[in-house]
Amino acid sequence: MPATRQRLYINIDHVATLRQARRGSEPDPLEAARVCENAGADGITAHLREDRRHIQDSDVRGLRKVIKTYFNLELACVPEMLAIAIAAKPEQVTLVPERREEVTTEGGLDLVRDPARIREAVERLRAAGIRTALFIDPSVEAVERSAEIGCDAVELHTGRYSHAPAESARLDEIRHAAERGAGLGLAIHAGHGLSIENVRPVSATREIEELNIGHSIVSRAVFIGLHAAVAEMKEAMCAARMFDVAPPPP
Ligand code: PXP
Repeated sequence: MPATRQRLYINIDHVATLRQARRGSEPDPLEAARVCENAGADGITAHLREDRRHIQDSDVRGLRKVIKTYFNLELACVPEMLAIAIAAKPEQVTLVPERREEVTTEGGLDLVRDPARIREAVERLRAAGIRTALFIDPSVEAVERSAEIGCDAVELHTGRYSHAPAESARLDEIRHAAERGAGLGLAIHAGHGLSIENVRPVSATREIEELNIGHSIVSRAVFIGLHAAVAEMKEAMCAARMFDVAPPPP
């Protein structure tokens, strides 16, 4: 059954990036999480990178305490990170690829090279009561491989779409992957590079039930405040999914 309501999770790494510029205590990602929740965010996403360039281990522990909605922890599929996740017990872990030199997560997980390692991680996380998502390229093949691995959800990488939103092929690949994934029983998430300008067609994709958005919202927050930036995105998503609220007349 396609999702009728779409969740917005705010990625607060970018608040931690600003804090790390001075290695001080502000702006505080925990306070950002509270503001986002008050503004209508359905969950908070944070990415603990192996080089700790933004989110720190203490942030993960702190976020676990303050988040009242839903905690989605993104991390690489390596033993150190899995141990941290299992100890922190977020509601959801999204497994992401990690290459230390990249500025941001530039592609989806490699599901071909070592699927057994990912399957084992999914099983360990599930045994700890944690829902699992795999961050993958938006292709039918990647979705099918994810279903074989046995995760609960896939997050479709929207980076290529975000760089060229006018190219219909980019949106088509997201839609086809979403449709195939939902058909295989996977929950469909999406994220990366989404903004108030390009979010609507992705949001309007019926099967997509969760969006993870960070950079554009924190950037908007510099000018209009974090509460307003989150509320504005939520509003854009609601407008894009009007078909769910009021189906067209027969
Ligand atoms: N989803 C995943 C898995 C990511 O790695 C990121 C970037 O940290 C995002 C979503 C959010 O991307 P952006 O910050 O471009 O909105």
